[in-house]
Amino acid sequence: MQLLQQKIINEGTVLSDHVLKVDAFLNHQIDPQLMVEVGKEFARRFQNDRITKVLTIESSGIAPGLMAALELGVPVIFARKRKSLTLVNDLLTASVHSFTKNETSDISVSQKFLEPTDNVLIIDDFLANGQAALGLANIVELAGAKTAGIGIVIEKSFQDGGLLLRDKGFKVESLARIQSLQGGKVTFVEDLEVVR
Ligand code: G4P
Repeated sequence: MQLLQQKIINEGTVLSDHVLKVDAFLNHQIDPQLMVEVGKEFARRFQNDRITKVLTIESSGIAPGLMAALELGVPVIFARKRKSLTLVNDLLTASVHSFTKNETSDISVSQKFLEPTDNVLIIDDFLANGQAALGLANIVELAGAKTAGIGIVIEKSFQDGGLLLRDKGFKVESLARIQSLQGGKVTFVEDLEVVR
């Protein structure tokens, strides 16, 4: 997705060989027009997958998840990471370990929003080690529903998540795939494919 790649190049900051800061348009300030295009692109890529619900995780998954759901004409649910005053009963919960943050946390969704008949599209902002997406897929499984696909805004292809999820048979669609952040430079997988 050309527009997203341009945004990453123009407004992203490489913090280290492993971390890209995108708080100018995705993780803190959010570019609404970019999110509209992100939603359209996800809808295009999953248009034949009979999606009935979008499932994402707070907080940075909500904007792309919402726009994808709007384009697909389905509801969006976001998994909560923190305990909520009102979200207490009949929870579907999965444990998610973050290698980046070196911490494990529980994520939860109220079971009343996921039916066994649902065909779920999981959306998240970043794919690093794939643990958040796997946790969301676990929740879908607990509901007896089906994960129809996983849509990612930015995949860091040099980390294990993409391989892990695809090896498990999930259809994973990433709008930008980063091959490397070495030397402070963003290299996209697509750039390398063009060169080959
Ligand atoms: P994983 O789910 O793929 O295993 O990822 P990981 O645990 O490593 O990621 C933990 C958090 O760090 C997630 O956000 C994820 O989006 C974010 N993250 C991972 N790599 C990068 C990166 O290179 N740049 C940025 N900006 N974020 C990254 P989170 O803690 O859930 O935050 P939020 O959704 O509340 O914003």
